[in-house]
Amino acid sequence: MSVPANVIKQVRALRDAIELHNYRYYVLDAPIIPDAEYDRLFRELQELERKYPELAVPESPTQRVGGVPLTEFSPVTHRTPMLSLNNAFEGEEVVAFDRRIREQLGVEVVEYAVEPKFDGAAVSLSYQNGLLAQGATRGDGYTGEDVTTNLRTIKVVPLRLPADPPPVRLEVRGEVLMLKRDFERLNQEQARKDEKIFANPRNAAAGSLRQLDPRITASRHLTFFAYGLEGVEGRTLPRTHSALMDFLVTQKFPVCPERKVVRGVQGLLDYYRSIGSKRETLPYDIDGVVYKVNDLDQQERMGFVARAPRFALAHKFPAEEATTEVLDIDVQVGRTGAVTPVARLRPVFVGGVTVTNATLHNEDEVRRKDVRIGDTVIVRRAGDVIPEVVSVVPDRRRTDAREFVMPRVCPVCGSKVVRLPGEAISRCSGGLYCPAQRKQAILHFASRRAMDIQGLGEKRVDQLVDNHLVETPADLYRLDVPTVARLERMAELSADNLVKAIEAGKRTTLARFIYALGIPDVGDATAKELARFFGDLDPLIDADEQTLRYVEDIGPEVAQSIVQFFSEPHNRKVIAQLRAAGVRWERGEGGPKKTTLAQFIARLEIPGIGPSTAERLAVGSGGIERLMQVDAQTLQEEFDLPPNAARSVVEYFRSSKNRKVIKQLLNLGLTFTENAGTAGKPSPVRGKTFVLTGTLQSLTREEAKEKIEALGGKVTGSVSKKTDYVVAGAEAGSKLAKAQELGVPVLDEEGLMKLLSGSVRGGRQK
Ligand code: IVH
Repeated sequence: MSVPANVIKQVRALRDAIELHNYRYYVLDAPIIPDAEYDRLFRELQELERKYPELAVPESPTQRVGGVPLTEFSPVTHRTPMLSLNNAFEGEEVVAFDRRIREQLGVEVVEYAVEPKFDGAAVSLSYQNGLLAQGATRGDGYTGEDVTTNLRTIKVVPLRLPADPPPVRLEVRGEVLMLKRDFERLNQEQARKDEKIFANPRNAAAGSLRQLDPRITASRHLTFFAYGLEGVEGRTLPRTHSALMDFLVTQKFPVCPERKVVRGVQGLLDYYRSIGSKRETLPYDIDGVVYKVNDLDQQERMGFVARAPRFALAHKFPAEEATTEVLDIDVQVGRTGAVTPVARLRPVFVGGVTVTNATLHNEDEVRRKDVRIGDTVIVRRAGDVIPEVVSVVPDRRRTDAREFVMPRVCPVCGSKVVRLPGEAISRCSGGLYCPAQRKQAILHFASRRAMDIQGLGEKRVDQLVDNHLVETPADLYRLDVPTVARLERMAELSADNLVKAIEAGKRTTLARFIYALGIPDVGDATAKELARFFGDLDPLIDADEQTLRYVEDIGPEVAQSIVQFFSEPHNRKVIAQLRAAGVRWERGEGGPKKTTLAQFIARLEIPGIGPSTAERLAVGSGGIERLMQVDAQTLQEEFDLPPNAARSVVEYFRSSKNRKVIKQLLNLGLTFTENAGTAGKPSPVRGKTFVLTGTLQSLTREEAKEKIEALGGKVTGSVSKKTDYVVAGAEAGSKLAKAQELGVPVLDEEGLMKLLSGSVRGGRQK
């Protein structure tokens, strides 16, 4: 089928538009149409190309990612070698560079084209008759690899040059880069997938460019900057480097906007400094700047030495990364008590300074990077940022490298720390006993909203602690007047008052007492909630983290903090001493807040059980106790649960930890309000009055009563006209007779069970 002329025209217009918008979006970062509009154009073009496959030419913007994965890259011999640059690190070397050029050219001042030195992978792009024909890596400078299909996936690389007529041949050189933000994203993604983490954007760019499957390269979002133009045929070009770059801009190549033309050595050094100060804010990594004699005739006169041109120089920034050895790993305690592992390093010059320590951020990071004492590591110091260990050099691991063990003691006081093994530790849970926090603990204990001990201020506490009269709050109750009176500036009367005040504070409320303990993260509002919920101290001491989560406003961290506090033997000891000293409190009132059973089940977060399934379980279950017993088959049959969900419920309730939590909550008086779902539902049991008589076979009368009540029925002791059912077991007596006399329906055990399970069905929701 030949393609109609108007379709060819339309396809051409679509391509021009898409290329323009690609350029606006990817190169200029200034799109002029919304994404949806772009997508529409793109789909329209794809549609036409599907209809007329001969239009799907390689230079079409729809054809960037295509073809089958390669098995290897073919070698490409560069027409002109891809050379390297001489490096300079010091200003003096730059001065010498400029002097040599002036002398050789016999000029007063040299004009230079200057640009950043991109830290990526060098490539060469060959265009034939305006179309991208081949792209190659630098390789050893003479022979590289053919990575054309991968380079085509880079959106900023033109597939077709706009010049009309196009040059017969054009070879552009430049650097493939990965933007810092794309690098971060890639590594996050790699970590999530448990795949290779790249050490830096350059490695990521080079690795992505050498993927045999171009779809992988496409997914990596590489970018490109052109910095050179080699062979040109069929066109005369300007005779300065800067004008060549301007020409490349007209051909839609991305050229670095930071490039400039400067004069003389001062121009070079100023440029070095100004790019250096911008380095951190640039979206891509650079490792220096490149100076090139701008005039191409002058360049030719300068010529080459070995493999580098005499007319150009790379002025490098101090390396941001260096390798060195980890001599030890310590922890550092911050002002807030945060604990950070720090690598002590063999001194190394990096980022312009000598570095001896580098942060490892946290314990997880040490594990993730698998840094061991004795390892050779890459250390990074970028700008003024704290030096960090980037990665280990695995090939250089010594056989005697030692794993780092995070200390499980508070680095301040030597007592145990809050978080358990495997979790990031933060600080000492000491409160009552940490020697480093002793004075604060006692002051807090005595404070107004805690035990409210009048006259026990900072100075007194200092004196008591410094004189070894008091170490923990419990010691306060051992003080007597003569001992206190011996303290400096303490009159007999005030000693008497202090001891009286301590005595008076013995009678308190549970909320105040909990607050007085100084549990990390437990303020007075939380203490009140805890007192209300638990009623007394012992259930609080025994509470599991999960149980604590049912207390209003208590999150996982606070719950953990509380459990940890009470698990410390020192803290329990001090509490026991306080009780022995006669500290007494009023119980808290309230208990767990009422919820519906459905809400409660939903909150258990049983895997696979959402609110609607929870509702279904609640409505027909006959109470939480029954749910804790029920087997998977019953769940599937009675509640219509899918097998996975049924198994999940059974597993949940089989776990002794979960059972303990539910028992704790029930013991605390957790009760359920009527389920929203059951209210108003027709049920043969709800609202009905039952009388039980005689001996039942499969359950006790008490159990039967519970079941009836769980479904909203009532059980009374005597039969009257108001009785709805009499349930008669073996050897039923006078109550059965009475029922028969009044015409009250009589059920046997089987009948009761039917009624109860009918109620289950009646309440079931689909
Ligand atoms: S010009 C004759 N300009 O540096 C040398 N190279 O050591 C032509 N590079 O592998 C290179 N940014 O990939 C030039 N603005 C820039 C550059 C640059 C980075 C890399 C290039 C090459 C290496 C040369």
